[in-house]
Amino acid sequence: MDAKPFAAGREADVFALGDDRVLRRYRNGTDVAREAEVMEYVGGLGFPVPRVYAAQGADLVMERLDGPTLAQAALTGELSIPDGVAILTDLLRRLHDLPPRGGGSAGSSADTIVHLDLHPENVLLTRRGPVVIDWCNAGDGVSDLDTALSALILAQVAIGSIEHPLVDGAGIMVDLFLELAPGDPVRLLDEAAVFRRRQLTMSPDEVAMIGAAVARVRDAALPRT
Ligand SMILES: Nc1ncnc2c1ncn2[C@@H]1O[C@H](COP(=O)(O)OP(=O)(O)O)[C@@H](O)[C@H]1O
Ligand SMILES: [Mg+2]
Repeated sequence: MDAKPFAAGREADVFALGDDRVLRRYRNGTDVAREAEVMEYVGGLGFPVPRVYAAQGADLVMERLDGPTLAQAALTGELSIPDGVAILTDLLRRLHDLPPRGGGSAGSSADTIVHLDLHPENVLLTRRGPVVIDWCNAGDGVSDLDTALSALILAQVAIGSIEHPLVDGAGIMVDLFLELAPGDPVRLLDEAAVFRRRQLTMSPDEVAMIGAAVARVRDAALPRT
């Protein structure tokens, strides 16, 4: 294993294991078993995820993907903003077409599998097409909550609450996303904000501005018929 990670997100370090595999390790020791199960489940149904080779403790060994993140490609101009949004909304639509794994509490309202962090940094553009990574929040859930979270995250970037070089493109992304997204992106927006506030990786400033991001989404949302 290379001593230095070749990529690092907010929660994990990613190490190359040769050309074909990576090791993703949670810095806080989170167990990856459930995440790996969800990845294997959606992958088995044809949804684009990295193939999982091993999951133990905080370590996930998976297929190494080639290609930039959707965010990087949008920044360099390799991908237009409308094409980027079309990819995001298409991935959400395909994910929400999958049945839930089941086994939840009786009367659970889960209608599908949700990712709950599907944004331009968690999509890699590979030779085999866009592939979704970072499944730490994923599981059975309500599709509209997932869509609301993606809209909210884009809005956090658009209003400058999450610092990101895509800040200029993110405003157009929010507006287009709300037009193209599957389901109803505002029905569960308040629940999405509650979920987002609870995320440990959010800074106090980011948490303080979630209300403004919610307002940004609501203002832009077209009335749905
Ligand atoms: N399977 C993979 N193949 C290649 N690069 C990956 C893979 N998984 C993650 N990465 C890289 O690591 C970064 C962080 O991974 P991610 O799973 O999003 O962790 P975090 O929860 O820390 O955001 C990604 O942006 C990407 O550059
Ligand atoms: Mg990530």
